[in-house]
Amino acid sequence: MISKYRLKNCLIALAAISLLGSGIALSVNAQTAPKEGDLKQARQAIEVRKAVFTLIGSNFQPLGNILKGTVPYDNGKVKVNTARLAVLSEFVIDIFPDYSNRGEPETKTKADAWSNKDDLLKRIADFQAHAQNLVKVSATEGDATDAFKAAVTAVGQDCKGCHDLYKAK
Ligand code: HEC
Repeated sequence: MISKYRLKNCLIALAAISLLGSGIALSVNAQTAPKEGDLKQARQAIEVRKAVFTLIGSNFQPLGNILKGTVPYDNGKVKVNTARLAVLSEFVIDIFPDYSNRGEPETKTKADAWSNKDDLLKRIADFQAHAQNLVKVSATEGDATDAFKAAVTAVGQDCKGCHDLYKAK
């Protein structure tokens, strides 16, 4: 007959083995799972990046149209678009995590964006500053003045400058 003492020891041993077992299972998962996990994480980051730029694009376009003279200046709309653009410009610093450097066809961001990180960061900071400046200028100008046009142009040059270097065609 198994004594209480031996039974207890037996249970402890079993518990230890199952712990060890789950430990092994965990470490196996840790070796195989991250690849799938990393890919998922990268794709999510790329989706966020594209979504942020899509919104940046849709809020900048009406301002570009005013610049071109194809639509009249509408104070209410300009206020909304410039305010959104300034907020959206703050997201750009977070949308280029290293793990999202996957190249085409998954992302149009060129690998250079990560190898020239300092330049990318400077361009992001310039974009933020110009987007914030545009909010101020449009609030004081209230019309398609030269100062307003210059402030929109500065932002437009940030878009183009960064795309020319870091966005695949
Ligand atoms: C600091 C660099 C940088 C700045 C500034 C920038 N962009 Fe981009 N933009 C990119 C990169 C890189 C991509 C490619 C994103 C990807 O596919 O991963 C992109 C993609 C886009 C896209 C396509 C999104 C999609 O769904 O594929 C649009 C639209 C866009 N940008 C508009 C703009 C506009 C408008 C501005 C200025 C108001 C601007 N961007 C400023 C780097 C920048």
